[in-house]
Amino acid sequence: MTSRPLILMTDPGHYEVSYQINPWMRPDAWAECGATRAEAARGASAALCAALQMVGAQVEILAGKPGLPDMVFPANAAVVLDGVALMAHFRHPERQGEEAPFRQGFEALRARRLIDEIVALPPGLFQEGAGDAHWDAHRQLFWTGYGPRSAKEATPVIAEVFGQEVVALELATQQFYHLDTCFCPLPGGEVLYFPPAFTEAGRAAIAAFTDPEQRIEASPDEAGAFCVNAVCLGRTVVMAKAPARLKAILAERGYRVVEIDLSPFILSGGAAFCMTLRLDQTAARTRPALPFAANA
Ligand code: ARG
Repeated sequence: MTSRPLILMTDPGHYEVSYQINPWMRPDAWAECGATRAEAARGASAALCAALQMVGAQVEILAGKPGLPDMVFPANAAVVLDGVALMAHFRHPERQGEEAPFRQGFEALRARRLIDEIVALPPGLFQEGAGDAHWDAHRQLFWTGYGPRSAKEATPVIAEVFGQEVVALELATQQFYHLDTCFCPLPGGEVLYFPPAFTEAGRAAIAAFTDPEQRIEASPDEAGAFCVNAVCLGRTVVMAKAPARLKAILAERGYRVVEIDLSPFILSGGAAFCMTLRLDQTAARTRPALPFAANA
């Protein structure tokens, strides 16, 4: 069955950069001209939404909340596969307030049957959603990131909840604090990634699960422009403004790159993938019964 991709985004009306929990975040730069930047952010979010719709996606917009500016990054709200949403638990107190409104948002999605089940993590375990758990439809497995934000111990939970294979990658830097900032599996089996973001063991795991010709290494300026943080829909890759080299590489591989100026969000350390969450992805192999109590 093929259906339209269903993507969650958050209304950027309450977006700002008012604290710093990653090295990209610049509250000072934001404060200099907050009103202009807020307007630019609304424009950038609308442009991303329009680009996704143009490629055929249905976009659901969740309301934001004042004082929770990073709700614009719903990739961190949950891990979603086969209609099951495993809700996130954030490491930083600055973002923990998002958990309740995201939960309410998912309950509303469930009421509309856009998702089926909502599952909570075991208490005390940090896991920041799809930002640290990238579903690879080609390999039928999750790649997870751990270290700066999500805990290593979240990996077996994801494996059990979804009944799928998980490859855990240790993240080595604070700059690339979520897996989605430095790793992107493409639909044709290639992986676009930034090797210095990973520990040696992480790079070895990537090498073990990919063929050499499938590995596309982003340069420091490409990773720093948040181009790895991309949304792939079929052969279209939607990303922040990209250096020419990367666009040429992807074109050669048969991908069409759609670029959006997401600079207001890069000021918070996020871009296209972070600003979205796929709700419709399904695995080829169905999962066994849930070991964790799904909240009815
Ligand atoms: N300011 C946010 C944070 O540090 C940005 C999150 C970006 N999201 C992502 N999935 N990489 O948490």
